[in-house]
Amino acid sequence: MALLVSAVDFCFFSLLMLLSGTRKGETARFLVSMPAELEAAVGETAVITCVPSISEAFNITYVQWFSSDRGSRQRIYYMDQNENSTDKNTGYTNRISVSDDFTLTISPVTLQDERSFLCQIGAGPAGNGENKTELRIYKSPSLPVVHVSDKGISVNDERPEIATCVTKNGYPTPNITWYKDRTPMKDNDETRISASVVKESSGLYTVSSTLYHRVTKEDRIEKFYCEVSYRMPGADKMMESERVNLTLHYPTEEVNVMVVSPTDEIREGDNVTIKCKGDGNPEPEVSFFKIKEGEDDEEMESNEDTLILSDVKRTDSGRYECRTFDLLYSTEVSAAITLVVNHLSEVMLTPEKPTDVMLGGNLTIYCNALGSQKTSVIWKKKNHVVAKTNALTLTDVTYQSAGDYTCEVTMPSVPRLSRKKATRVIVKGAPEFELKADELWVHEGEIVNVTCKAMGYPRPEITWSINGTMTQKNVNHHTSAGHLSLQVTQELAAAGVSCTASNSLGSVNKKISFQLHVVTIPPTSAPVSAKAPLQKESKGIIIVVVIVCILVFAILGAVLYFLYKKGKIPCGRSGKKDITKTNGSKDDIVVEMKTDKTAEQTGLLQGMNGEKKPVGDQGEKYIDLRS
Ligand SMILES: *[C@@H]1O[C@H](CO)[C@@H](O)[C@H](O)[C@H]1NC(C)=O
Ligand SMILES: *[C@@H]1O[C@H](CO)[C@@H](O)[C@H](O)[C@H]1NC(C)=O
Ligand SMILES: *[C@@H]1O[C@H](CO)[C@@H](O)[C@H](O)[C@H]1NC(C)=O
Ligand SMILES: *[C@@H]1O[C@H](CO)[C@@H](O)[C@H](O)[C@H]1NC(C)=O
Ligand SMILES: *[C@@H]1O[C@H](CO)[C@@H](O)[C@H](O)[C@H]1NC(C)=O
Ligand SMILES: *[C@@H]1O[C@H](CO)[C@@H](O)[C@H](O)[C@H]1NC(C)=O
Ligand SMILES: *[C@@H]1O[C@H](CO)[C@@H](O)[C@H](O)[C@H]1NC(C)=O
Repeated sequence: MALLVSAVDFCFFSLLMLLSGTRKGETARFLVSMPAELEAAVGETAVITCVPSISEAFNITYVQWFSSDRGSRQRIYYMDQNENSTDKNTGYTNRISVSDDFTLTISPVTLQDERSFLCQIGAGPAGNGENKTELRIYKSPSLPVVHVSDKGISVNDERPEIATCVTKNGYPTPNITWYKDRTPMKDNDETRISASVVKESSGLYTVSSTLYHRVTKEDRIEKFYCEVSYRMPGADKMMESERVNLTLHYPTEEVNVMVVSPTDEIREGDNVTIKCKGDGNPEPEVSFFKIKEGEDDEEMESNEDTLILSDVKRTDSGRYECRTFDLLYSTEVSAAITLVVNHLSEVMLTPEKPTDVMLGGNLTIYCNALGSQKTSVIWKKKNHVVAKTNALTLTDVTYQSAGDYTCEVTMPSVPRLSRKKATRVIVKGAPEFELKADELWVHEGEIVNVTCKAMGYPRPEITWSINGTMTQKNVNHHTSAGHLSLQVTQELAAAGVSCTASNSLGSVNKKISFQLHVVTIPPTSAPVSAKAPLQKESKGIIIVVVIVCILVFAILGAVLYFLYKKGKIPCGRSGKKDITKTNGSKDDIVVEMKTDKTAEQTGLLQGMNGEKKPVGDQGEKYIDLRS
């Protein structure tokens, strides 16, 4: 619009020029061009141009700048051919400068600069002209801040005060707009906005706006904010406050009651914590009751919203109700929970006492425990499960069946609730040896330790057929082990040893026989006469040969053994492991060789009590490599 006006003016002016040019002698019109308005921000620099123009050639004689506030003008700058000076004591003395093209610069701009600035130019005979610029000053306000009352807003109120938004020190007066859910709010039945403006001593404006609005429970989270809109040079601007949460008061509509501990099933002896929460704000008063059929409900002592039942019993099972009362709204809401206290009685065994059963007999023991839910029973003997029913049935019992049995009752649906009880099964009967007979390989003169182990109940007594160093040990409640330590003689080897195990129900006898290790050698290249006694030297040679042979066989044996261990030679292991020996190490290698001569002929065989072994027997001799 201004542009249009100036364009019209220009045409008019040009026409004048044309006329003046034709009508000689008339004074030309002197014109000063200045912007009608100029915007500047406080603290920045304002630059006001002043451009003279005339149709004729002219010389500038002076330039003056004035500031004008509501009609009263004051010179602030003067310039002619001789001098250029800034007027003293004007408020602009140190803030202005004028350039060669008469442009006025004000820096820094203050709020008081919102006024007119006049530029007057004299051109001697050409006359003089002036024009003015209106300076508009702007100052951005502070970020708007929302204050909400923390004492709570009731959803029941007609149009309660919600919040106040304040923005400080703006110029000119900034505007505040309220938003809810990003929608600007307007005065209506539910909403009223009241703003107040305070002019500070600095001349700047502080605006505060108070919002009154009917709220619902849903309005409590981050919905409201205010926005300040203001003008700055060349642009309209705005700033938003932070979103605020409101403290709203609303009645309880729903109550939630739950067991917070234990987190799984409840057992007798547990401490149970029940919490009750209403969805109102502030939280309602809570009280707990135990529901009793046919009588008044029992009020429980609780700590605010928490009810603690310590060391619960099965009688504490039942229905618990939580009732809330909203003082603010006089509303009552309740909720209930059913508590099941699981329990498991002591284990009952039938028969109750340790049980005797005769060897070969049958026995059944029943295990029971009463619980609040389905139970599961297992029987264990030395941590091995022997039965998964409540009846433990042992048929045709042996001594191995004797021992301690434990019945464990659990409740699969209730973890950590279990009971157990142990009982002892005694198998009565006459003694029995663990091994029927023993044969022991011994060296003459060796001290051997012979063992007899017998089972029976009452526990058997072990006696021996010959004297020796005896010890007897109780292995368990129905097994005893007798040990006899004695030196092997030929007589003993021939006769063997027998042990007897006896108790009140009978006795058994077992013979342990001895086999002497026998060593033979192959015939020498020069056969010796059977009758001729061997000379001492040849005896020595034979012994050396025997030793060498033993060594060779030992090496051979070791190789064979190694191959056997490696699985190269398939072969069964010797099973004679029950033989107990004090002497004669396990590494003993027994070497026997077949010979054409009889044992006596060699004179080396110290006959086994005169008994001759058949040759065929010797053919079965083996290399015994004990591992
Ligand atoms: C002031 O300057 C404006 C812009 O150049 C011009 O349009 C206007 O006519 C001038 N006013 C006077 C009184 O010279
Ligand atoms: C301007 O001033 C100069 C010298 O000061 C003079 O020569 C000239 O004539 C003047 N022009 C006019 C239009 O007065
Ligand atoms: C403030 O609001 C008034 C009225 O709606 C409007 O005239 C004015 O231009 C606004 N000011 C700003 C800075 O937006
Ligand atoms: C408003 O409440 C929400 C949810 O309770 C929370 O996440 C957010 O941080 C709160 N905002 C403010 C400004 O307090
Ligand atoms: C033990 O039970 C088995 C079968 O369960 C039965 O055959 C046997 O006769 C019973 N023995 C005795 C002594 O009852
Ligand atoms: C055992 O020794 C005792 C005396 O020490 C003797 O009377 C008894 O005959 C011996 N018994 C045997 C079997 O040698
Ligand atoms: C015989 O051996 C057993 C175990 O092997 C041992 O307990 C006992 O003391 C031994 N007896 C003698 C007399 O060495």
